[in-house]
Amino acid sequence: NLTTQVVQAADCIFERLRSEISRIGSGGRSNSHIFFIFGASGDLAKKKIYPALWWLYRDGFLPEHIRIIGYARSQLTIEKIFENAKKFMKVQEDEHEIFEKFVSINSYINGSYDNKEDFEKLNNEANKLSKQESAHRLFYLALPPSVYESVTELISLHCRPKSPGWLRLIVEKPFGKDLESSNKLSTHLSKFFTEEEIYRIDHYLGKEMVQNIIVLRFANQILSRVWNRDSIAAVIIIFKEDIGTQGRGGYFDEFGIIRDVIQNHLMQILSIVAMEKPNSTKGEDIRDEKVKVLRSVLPIKPEDVVIGQYVGDKDSKDPERQQGYLDDKGVPKDSTTPTYAQVILSINNERWAGVPFILRAGKALNEKKAEIRIQFRDSPGGMFEEDASQQDSNHKLARDELVIRVQPNEAIYLKVNTKRPGDMGFSIEETELDLTYGQRYEGVKLPDAYERLILDVFMGSKINFVRSDELQEAWRIVDPILAEIEKKNIPMIRYKFGSFGIREAFDAAAKHGYIFR
Ligand code: NDP
Ligand code: BG6
Repeated sequence: NLTTQVVQAADCIFERLRSEISRIGSGGRSNSHIFFIFGASGDLAKKKIYPALWWLYRDGFLPEHIRIIGYARSQLTIEKIFENAKKFMKVQEDEHEIFEKFVSINSYINGSYDNKEDFEKLNNEANKLSKQESAHRLFYLALPPSVYESVTELISLHCRPKSPGWLRLIVEKPFGKDLESSNKLSTHLSKFFTEEEIYRIDHYLGKEMVQNIIVLRFANQILSRVWNRDSIAAVIIIFKEDIGTQGRGGYFDEFGIIRDVIQNHLMQILSIVAMEKPNSTKGEDIRDEKVKVLRSVLPIKPEDVVIGQYVGDKDSKDPERQQGYLDDKGVPKDSTTPTYAQVILSINNERWAGVPFILRAGKALNEKKAEIRIQFRDSPGGMFEEDASQQDSNHKLARDELVIRVQPNEAIYLKVNTKRPGDMGFSIEETELDLTYGQRYEGVKLPDAYERLILDVFMGSKINFVRSDELQEAWRIVDPILAEIEKKNIPMIRYKFGSFGIREAFDAAAKHGYIFR
């Protein structure tokens, strides 16, 4: 049956990947690897990086000779780190033995982020642990951006592997705060690393459905032919979370939702949804097209922006929902940082002129969800209008809409009109052609985004990483609007924790032709 076939096909792909990894691991004279986690004491390391490394190790995707070294200032032990990370690692009953082996390849070293002696010490320890000075080295910066510059400089000066070992540096978002600071960081990195060595991570590029957009668009004529302004009325890319800043307020307040989610995750999705067909599946061809379409995005007009900040819901029984953004410990009481934003973009090219691209993101809403909705133009002609009027107060047929649900419950579904089953005549009902992954591909494991992307770094694949010119364009697009927000020229709308969204944002989307269904 289909599920068995899919599971077998997935197993076969995993087998090929494992052998590729072991080829990398055993090829050449330098066959050891060291993975460094800077900021090993922190939130990202605990929730994402240690778990992803564990799953890769468990499933046989890490090279045979590997050491993982956590580094941060805190006085900790590797046992303490695992104690904190364990609940995110989901170790099963029958995995304890292999988990102990994983623990044994890990160590923790504490030191500062700006002292050369500490980096020399780290380098010596790493050499001792891997027993090879030319082991390939991967450095993951799970750190606040404030220390990126000193850490990267010291890594380059004191922790480079001896030849023929290579170095790969994984830099987390945010890459700067605006175009200027992002360029400054890029200039700094380029003094110490080649572009080849830098991997700018945007974990949304590691999500199954984001990766699927390219296949869906370009491997299906039925879609590629209608993927343009002639057929598409509007595109909306939505990010919703049902949690607030949860103690990350100190970080968040400096950035806000546009820098935290829209400038990177949603803009990356937009570039893949809107780009022209790349010449090949090679990383550079894809990234060339992504940057090309971003260059065609016009500056956002202030009237096309809606921003909001959540307040506590005093009627909620959930103590978290009673807290507003300003109640977060790290947030100043008079903060005007947006936790919700909608921006409407126009792409000035032949394919998209006149089609609104609506990017909407919010924290502390009613649900956790990320999805892309491609809304097609109204069906012309009045053939069904009389029938449709029985269901739809607008006396119109509902529009077709393609929905790509990134999370939760990955799915692709096409909303269409159908004849109401069993009814006489042509009464119309909206329904879905539904590809819900959990049902269709039951039993197929979809790797976590960090798992995929870390594996990509081992393999040296840059398809799913952000190139510096993409980054510049993304900042160019949002920069003017960030300045307007800072000058308080855009009204801040308060919304209750747990709300569906902000009315003004829905109205603005409707004004641009997106019909809520
Ligand atoms: P944390 O605030 O947990 O910081 C990580 C570590 O950095 C801390 O454990 C601490 O280690 C050190 N640190 C914290 N503040 C400072 C400071 N002011 N100066 C020097 N060192 C400091 O951050 P996260 O783990 O949440 O995030 C790390 C990076 O990943 C950030 O760039 C973030 O934007 C990005 N990111 C995080 C996500 C998440 O879910 N957490 C998601 C996506 C991206 P010590 O004191 O022991 O040295
Ligand atoms: C991060 C943001 O990049 O993405 C967070 O900094 C946000 O604020 C997170 O919560 C969402 O990621 P995911 O994978 O849970 O949708």
